[in-house]
Amino acid sequence: MMKASKAQVSDSTDCSANNICIGSNEKTYNTASSPREDDIFGRVSFKKENFVASLHGCSEKYDAILCLSVSKWIHLNWGDDGLITLFVKIWRLLRPGGIFVLEPQPWSSYNRNRQVSKTATLNFNNIILRPHVFREILLDKIGFRSAEIVTDSLSGTVAGFNRPIIAFTK
Ligand SMILES: C[S@@+](CC[C@H](N)C(=O)[O-])C[C@H]1O[C@@H](n2cnc3c(N)ncnc32)[C@H](O)[C@@H]1O
Repeated sequence: MMKASKAQVSDSTDCSANNICIGSNEKTYNTASSPREDDIFGRVSFKKENFVASLHGCSEKYDAILCLSVSKWIHLNWGDDGLITLFVKIWRLLRPGGIFVLEPQPWSSYNRNRQVSKTATLNFNNIILRPHVFREILLDKIGFRSAEIVTDSLSGTVAGFNRPIIAFTK
């Protein structure tokens, strides 16, 4: 069972936590044991890095990886190659049975941000792997065993965040 807790910022480049959360102000979550208020800061670390270009040679394995509202930014900045790198890296970082929780932004959301930079515009124009095929890619190409829709929508959330969340099992 996953037990997660939020904790402090660290410049550490090691892979010491058991769960990882990409792009949530670089929060990392630890699953070592049930969190207690007084020892959370000793057991959880933060890392700030580009997930696409980092974590090479990381041997740590994680129980769960969250990727919430991040895939669009990696996709716009790094194109289809960056997206596949993201998915492959996540698969490698998970233990067997580990869970990848993905909240992908829809294509309509890409359209709104396509002009944030020249790179984003270029990548936007060349993207082939649109969000509606992510599930198929993760199951058929990356190797996840199953996909479960955690929620179809999150009513009551601020505009733009009422999106499906999917949990993929390695
Ligand atoms: C819309 S925010 C989502 C934050 C958080 N996951 C949430 O759901 O509230 C997008 C996040 O993607 C992160 N991000 C974008 N490209 C990234 C990359 N290459 N590596 C790691 N994080 C990235 C940004 O730093 C930012 O925190």
